[in-house]
Amino acid sequence: MAIPKEQLDSVQQRVMDIVARYGAREDCLLQILHDVQADDNSLSEAELLQVARSMDIPLSRVYGVATFYSMYSVRPRGNYIIRICESAPCHIVGAREVIEAFERALGIQMGETTENGRFTLEYTSCLGVCGVAPAVMINDQVYGNLTPAKVEEILASLDED
Ligand code: FES
Repeated sequence: MAIPKEQLDSVQQRVMDIVARYGAREDCLLQILHDVQADDNSLSEAELLQVARSMDIPLSRVYGVATFYSMYSVRPRGNYIIRICESAPCHIVGAREVIEAFERALGIQMGETTENGRFTLEYTSCLGVCGVAPAVMINDQVYGNLTPAKVEEILASLDED
């Protein structure tokens, strides 16, 4: 599908600035995609195309990297990405109840984004904080020892932003 010219123009300078910081080196592609994604937690078709052009590498290569790593998303995501640990230690001590509490409170299922674009629910593997399982990471912040009641508290505090 063709991308509107205005949309390409609006991302062009931003992506070019990011690529320029790294010198269009392909070994920096992961960091470049990370920086490009930072504005809205996802990589649009226009952004992927501009990265490929600015780095002079095939779009298929950029798309392949963007879809291979779970830290990137080519689908729109919310302002808050809630990553719920599904590894065994968290699972054993109640991750399922935590997942259900998030789904119930937000009215969405795992993998979905709320209609207002604020929250996305995703699974993650071990966050490295098994001592406070069950745990989740919301953007860069880790929360541990979760219960359904704490889920409500966390969401209420984020809603105040
Ligand atoms: S298993 Fe969940 S944080 Fe390690």
